[in-house]
Amino acid sequence: MAETGTRTVIRVGEAADIPVGQGRCFVLGDETIAVFRQRDGRVFATQNRCPHRAGPLADGIVGGNHVICPLHAHRFDLETGNGSEPGECVRVYETEVVDGQVRLR
Ligand code: FES
Repeated sequence: MAETGTRTVIRVGEAADIPVGQGRCFVLGDETIAVFRQRDGRVFATQNRCPHRAGPLADGIVGGNHVICPLHAHRFDLETGNGSEPGECVRVYETEVVDGQVRLR
């Protein structure tokens, strides 16, 4: 973890370890984070726990800036965290890839 200005940067792992079009789960302290690498190369991160019934979002289907939960197919926007069901949303994290490393802010 490093401080840059007023933001904390957390190194998560190698982008190459996340297959294109899939997600991977990373445990960071008390948080479990799902990191997704889309086919267009963009990387997104959300809480891993689905707000519906705690499904593992990292195992969901990724595409079109969304992830579909593997348990009951609720859909979440990877940029905003907004869910397809009323009142459901997930926490999203700002990401960047520097020298092949995925970092969260
Ligand atoms: S646990 Fe994710 S949709 Fe039900």
